[in-house]
Amino acid sequence: MMYEGCKKYIPFQPVSLPDRTWPDQILNKAPVWCSVDLRDGNQALVDPMNLEEKLLYFKTLVEIGFKEIEIGFPSSSETEYEICRTLIEKNLIPDDVTIQVLVQAREHLIRKTFEAIKGAKNVIVHFYNSTSTLQRKVVFKTDMQGVINIAVEGAKLVRRLTEEEIKRSGANIRYEYSPESFSGTEMDNAVKICEEVLDTLGATPEKKVILNLPNTVEMCTPNTHADQIEYFIRHLKGRDRAIISLHPHNDRGTGVAATELALMAGAERVEGTLFGNGERTGNVDIMNLAMNLYSQGVDPHLDFSNIRHIRDVYEKCTNMRVHDRHPYAGNLVFTAFSGSHQDAIKKGIDYMHTHESSYWEVPYLPIDPADVGREYEPIIRINSQSGKGGAAFVMQQSFGFDLPKAMHPEFGAAIKEACDAAGRELIPSEIFHIFRKEYLDLQAPYHLKSYKLYEERMSDDESDSDEETPSAVHFEGNIRFHHEDHPVSAIGNGPIDAFFKALEQVGIKNYRFVTYREHAIDAGADSKAVSYIQLQDPKGRDIFGVGVHPNISMASIKGIICAVNRAVLRNQKEAEE
Ligand code: KIV
Ligand code: ZN
Repeated sequence: MMYEGCKKYIPFQPVSLPDRTWPDQILNKAPVWCSVDLRDGNQALVDPMNLEEKLLYFKTLVEIGFKEIEIGFPSSSETEYEICRTLIEKNLIPDDVTIQVLVQAREHLIRKTFEAIKGAKNVIVHFYNSTSTLQRKVVFKTDMQGVINIAVEGAKLVRRLTEEEIKRSGANIRYEYSPESFSGTEMDNAVKICEEVLDTLGATPEKKVILNLPNTVEMCTPNTHADQIEYFIRHLKGRDRAIISLHPHNDRGTGVAATELALMAGAERVEGTLFGNGERTGNVDIMNLAMNLYSQGVDPHLDFSNIRHIRDVYEKCTNMRVHDRHPYAGNLVFTAFSGSHQDAIKKGIDYMHTHESSYWEVPYLPIDPADVGREYEPIIRINSQSGKGGAAFVMQQSFGFDLPKAMHPEFGAAIKEACDAAGRELIPSEIFHIFRKEYLDLQAPYHLKSYKLYEERMSDDESDSDEETPSAVHFEGNIRFHHEDHPVSAIGNGPIDAFFKALEQVGIKNYRFVTYREHAIDAGADSKAVSYIQLQDPKGRDIFGVGVHPNISMASIKGIICAVNRAVLRNQKEAEE
């Protein structure tokens, strides 16, 4: 059945720009960023921020590196006015930061705004009126000339009050004009009104005016918006007397894409918020845009290296939550659940180490989580689908145990069983706990209570060759089983051989040594060795044991007894089933 409801919507009419050039552009530098968190973001909150929250948020924006911050709409309410005054009077605005104040192009509001900014060193006075076809028709019931008159009258007053204030205080005041709902305005009308405003404000290449072109309600695809921006820039007389600014909203969920393409189309400045807070579906997310640039090797000039802290401040002040899947900031965005993804991540990290690559070459992780202050530890959480490499990856990344590949299926099976039993995925500490229980803490049925290893060097006379002198190794120890201690003592041509012979004395026979692997764990003075031992049990089945000890030979011996214990337990378990 056809869903007829869609017929009530009028398809967006794109501007005609067949010779568009923006698709060939590459973003290779950061735009000027302007945060509108404290205005557009704040006005869209169920509980707008109080003074204390706004001050904390402002401080955080400064720490991130914003140099232009729209602090509010001081003529709209006493609270907004007070916030502006507090920032100025308490000297909370760094000299290299410009505050921006929004005002409608209406006389009494403009006058009040100029009162609010007295004493500020650097200010952008941002005035606006709505220009869209729809608003002219249904809200203002006026033609384009009526809308132009409002903008021009506003511009005249803004200019006069600015010149007076500069004369009085020497403040650095700049202008910004927004044809609100720019993207819903006929492009030629948008160009016309902006040209009139530039003329009225006396804009020159030396005294540029910011022309902010809001995508107030996102109504078209990102490429169509980029066409609008390129069209506007091409047709604007005296383009070099303007800074072209974007103010994208996110109604279609394509705010970030629309901004990126519009920057390719020639815009130089972006207004947006952290994490995309703002009216309805929000303003464009500046963190997302900045980190996208960063991931392409472009310095965004904003610092998100401590994204958790920024997110905490944001959530505290706005009472909004950052979604678990939010790019760069969400709880789950550096987590791989799929086994094949985990395997590829591990291979990418290994590759980077072995090739000493100075580039980030890890599949499935578009950026290094550490660059936004996220740890490696939560990158991978293991569920029963994680595959055998996943658990081994966690052991290596989080705990420094580099399990031999042949051991991955065995350990992966133990983890899968634990996941199934828990009915959820496991975090790294739980994975280590299983490893510990399964291998390191296993002391039954055979418990190696005491042990001594020493070498006996043969004298040169005893040796019948000129080769390096062979040595005999003694193992002496005490193995407890069946509630009794059993002293053992044996000599072999190496520690492992000696220990196998000692085991035979207590009836542990017919185990075949297959292979072993060892490496150091923990750096520095406390360095220990870990040995992974692969044996074949008397039934010819493979089994692994792990031993950790400061002495490498003892680590192997502990690994052997661990493997034997695991083989015996496996047999017992199977017999019971
Ligand atoms: O979205 C918008 O059009 C605005 C203007 C007031 C700049 O927020
Ligand atoms: Zn807006």
